[in-house]
Amino acid sequence: MTATDPRAHLQHNPLRHKIAIVSGGARGIGAAIARRLVADGAEVVIGDVLDNPGRAVAESLGPQAAYAHLDVTEHQDWRAAVELARATFGNPNILVCNAGVMFSSPFEKTTPEDFRRLFEINALGAVQGIHAVLDPMRAAGGGSVVVVSSVGGAVGIEGMSAYCASKAANTMIARSAAIELSQYGIRVNSIHPSRVDTPMSNSDAVAAVASPDTSDLPPLGRIAEPEDVAALVAFLAGDESSFITGDQHFIDGGRQAGYKYSATAARDFRR
Ligand SMILES: NC(=O)c1ccc[n+]([C@@H]2O[C@H](COP(=O)([O-])OP(=O)(O)OC[C@H]3O[C@@H](n4cnc5c(N)ncnc54)[C@H](O)[C@@H]3O)[C@@H](O)[C@H]2O)c1
Repeated sequence: MTATDPRAHLQHNPLRHKIAIVSGGARGIGAAIARRLVADGAEVVIGDVLDNPGRAVAESLGPQAAYAHLDVTEHQDWRAAVELARATFGNPNILVCNAGVMFSSPFEKTTPEDFRRLFEINALGAVQGIHAVLDPMRAAGGGSVVVVSSVGGAVGIEGMSAYCASKAANTMIARSAAIELSQYGIRVNSIHPSRVDTPMSNSDAVAAVASPDTSDLPPLGRIAEPEDVAALVAFLAGDESSFITGDQHFIDGGRQAGYKYSATAARDFRR
């Protein structure tokens, strides 16, 4: 890259002049996303229902971060988070709809109320977020929305019907919004991590359905770290991905590529 290269500034602060809202940023993937966006030069409002941990993450990031109490099911909370972003940093041009909850139970015991609760937070929470940032993003001349879905939004997982259904909804919310918001320069993508090492994936709900051995691992042989996911979000949030919208992005160590039955299964049968 030469000194006159117009993309030279992207090398160090690719998200300079970007203002982001990250829901569910108090811990896990959301906290890693907030840290990465700040490291890349963005200013970030972290929203969560866990106020003390959320504030602590924001404080650890210094003046580039602020915290808002944000229950993603509450319209007023979204309005307040957007107002905080505008008053502190300016019109937000990045939204990461990351907040989510996991729930596990056999399909036949999963009630409509269980489905409703998961949809309310995981799916409609994202819809409310996108609605809330629409005007400021338009005013900012465009933006990027990243909706955190899951591999469970593309394939079913035993014992997680309500979760998977809500995550599949994320995909089509992102795709539909991408088509209609493209006219304002707003891009919308969904991302689909496999298992990530966070409080959610280490919860009893996951332990109840996850295999205790390593046969559940994807081809790359490990579960994801929150930072792996944050790197993808940073790319989709920034201008380097300016021609990418309405797509599903898997970050799954090869999980969607297929299955390894065992380390010795790929024998050479030509011998
Ligand atoms: N951990 C995984 O294996 C995994 C895999 C694929 C996708 N995901 C998705 O990634 C996202 C983050 O998950 P995580 O693993 O970091 O989980 P986590 O439980 O560690 O963090 C989720 C955060 O969302 C917050 N939250 C929950 N309900 C909220 C609400 N109503 N309003 C605002 N915030 C709320 C929680 O307080 C928490 O801080 C979720 O959408 C999850 O479904 C996680």
